[in-house]
Amino acid sequence: MQFNRRDFLGALGGTMLGGALAPAGALAFQQESKPFSWTPHKLDPKASAPVAYDGYWYNGYGCGYGVFYGIVGILAEKHGAPYNTFPFTMMEVGKSGISDWGTICGALLGAASAMALFWGRKERDPMVTELFRWYEATAFPLYNPGDKAQGVKGAVPTHAAGSVLCHVSVSSWAQATANDANGKMRQERCSRITADVCVKAIEIMNAKIDGKFAPAPAQTKATEFCGSCHDKGKESPIVKGRMDCTPCHSGSAHVQNKFKNHP
Ligand code: HEC
Ligand code: HEC
Repeated sequence: MQFNRRDFLGALGGTMLGGALAPAGALAFQQESKPFSWTPHKLDPKASAPVAYDGYWYNGYGCGYGVFYGIVGILAEKHGAPYNTFPFTMMEVGKSGISDWGTICGALLGAASAMALFWGRKERDPMVTELFRWYEATAFPLYNPGDKAQGVKGAVPTHAAGSVLCHVSVSSWAQATANDANGKMRQERCSRITADVCVKAIEIMNAKIDGKFAPAPAQTKATEFCGSCHDKGKESPIVKGRMDCTPCHSGSAHVQNKFKNHP
């Protein structure tokens, strides 16, 4: 049978936009809720921390799921729909920097995604920047689950990564603290960071809801200096992104050529 676009849209439920086909590039399908339209509610960061921590370990779903669950899972439990309609396991994709690629720290992906349920780009970007800058500069982990630890009990060695990337965050921690990047201690570290990121994200969201969100300066020394020539509209506008430039462009021992004279 021949099946053209008109038949297909008709079969989907006859939504033909007044008989005419939807304009090129648009479907007849309409999202039920408006973009970024879910209502945010304030949460207790202290109550969310253990939920995010346990979410990390639950079925091995990891950091992105854990942070998201510590925010939207609690909204679902307290307020029901629409929060309980979200397919939470989707956020498992963030584990290990998205499907083991070590790109963005999945905990940050989980937090930014939760924020995006409620706030569009203009309002969300400063919130994300506040969270990401804090992450770059913080010596993780901070949270300690005590006896409820699921990987390793007691203290976990800390390190400030200077980067929001899973690869840099985990690898530099492993090197600085003489740990295995695939070991139990590393998992414990990341599960505690899941709680840390959830707490910080909720503090930012609570402040936003109260109309009291006052972001710290968005620039680092490096982004300000390097950006003075490489930002949009400057003499060499060839740089994309807001990450701090230091870990990758400082010429430190870590970013020298390892293809030559390397053990
Ligand atoms: C005074 C202006 C200025 C500042 C400040 C500046 N740059 Fe540049 N940079 C340039 C120009 C001009 C080029 C050449 C651009 C081109 O090839 O189009 C360049 C090229 C580069 C290149 C590619 C070529 C190379 O030499 O490696 C990198 C990487 C780079 N800059 C990184 C940085 C970083 C990181 C910082 C901050 C530490 C920085 N730049 C600060 C002007 C500047
Ligand atoms: C996570 C590591 C990382 C961070 C953070 C980072 N860069 Fe880069 N940057 C790179 C890599 C890798 C390239 C590609 C290098 C190549 O061409 O092989 C690159 C390319 C560039 C280039 C293009 C020139 C070239 O050599 O290819 C410029 C300019 C540059 N970066 C400046 C910056 C500035 C300014 C910042 C901070 C705002 C920054 N970078 C942050 C890793 C990084």
